[in-house]
Amino acid sequence: MKLIAVATTGGDAPGMNAALRAVVKTATSKGLKVIGFERGYAGLLANDFIFLDDIMVDGLMHLGGTYLKSSRAEAMKTEDGISRAADVLEGNGVDGFIVIGGNGSFRAACGIHEASGIPIVGIPASIDNDIAGTDTTIGFDTAVNTALEAIDKIRDTATSHERIFVVEVMGRNRGFIALEVGLAAGAEAILVPEVKYDIEEVCERLKEIGRRGRRSGVVVMSEGAGDCMQVKKALEERAGFEVRLTRLGHIQRGGRPTARSRLLACEMGAASVEFLLEGRERDMTALQAGRIVPVNLEYACMVEKPFDRRLYELAIALSA
Ligand code: F6P
Repeated sequence: MKLIAVATTGGDAPGMNAALRAVVKTATSKGLKVIGFERGYAGLLANDFIFLDDIMVDGLMHLGGTYLKSSRAEAMKTEDGISRAADVLEGNGVDGFIVIGGNGSFRAACGIHEASGIPIVGIPASIDNDIAGTDTTIGFDTAVNTALEAIDKIRDTATSHERIFVVEVMGRNRGFIALEVGLAAGAEAILVPEVKYDIEEVCERLKEIGRRGRRSGVVVMSEGAGDCMQVKKALEERAGFEVRLTRLGHIQRGGRPTARSRLLACEMGAASVEFLLEGRERDMTALQAGRIVPVNLEYACMVEKPFDRRLYELAIALSA
């Protein structure tokens, strides 16, 4: 193995830069050359890359976003796209490819491996934490903390005005951000796609909490759990609350990575190079019970990550 390529793909996640830094520093310390494709798979398809060395990645650790930039490349869902990407890697003499991204990026990476035989290691980086086989993903902790900080502020004004706030958080079609931030914020209700809810019951629950003296509240809702406008309307019309809606949106994707996101990025970035040097063909760096271990890349992106029902029950029990 002489030349490895790296790209950050799909939705960006805080800590991607720290992971890139770890990949480049580890690889160059072992005598490998590194190229970085720009704008994720879009740059790979266009054969846009730069040579990376350890000086270039200095100072990246604390930066959100991604130095290499990213994109959502629809072309990678097609056979033509996959085969073009495989050709570009082969044409550049790439011996191993490290993909820092999420589920969709890993599915494309598996295709590239099938088409080219080039060993590929995935580093799970997504604020959604929706990747199977790893306890957590790079960026998730930062997104949860960003959302938590916002909700703590919302709580202040909710209390002052005795209002209910519906706060929509990201997560695509999974409720991991909503669950953790909801528990940490002491939300009065948490709506996630994994748990069916009845809006009448949510209204009743908030009314009951009100009868016991707490006349304000926060409902944390995952974007995949339905239409937050409808939830707001139902709380107003059926329960008679004064309700405000806040959609946190992309602020959850940016900002300085937390220490936990950085540490994970450092460990996974270094492990990804080790995995390639050990001769691994198609794996993901995964965190399991505090250790970085290899997990089959196909498993990681094809299997649905289990939702922690116990944590959800705890959140509900503590919010009453
Ligand atoms: O996958 C990360 C994520 O932020 C999801 O939580 C969200 O649904 C989606 O990306 C938004 O994507 P985009 O930035 O392309 O609108």
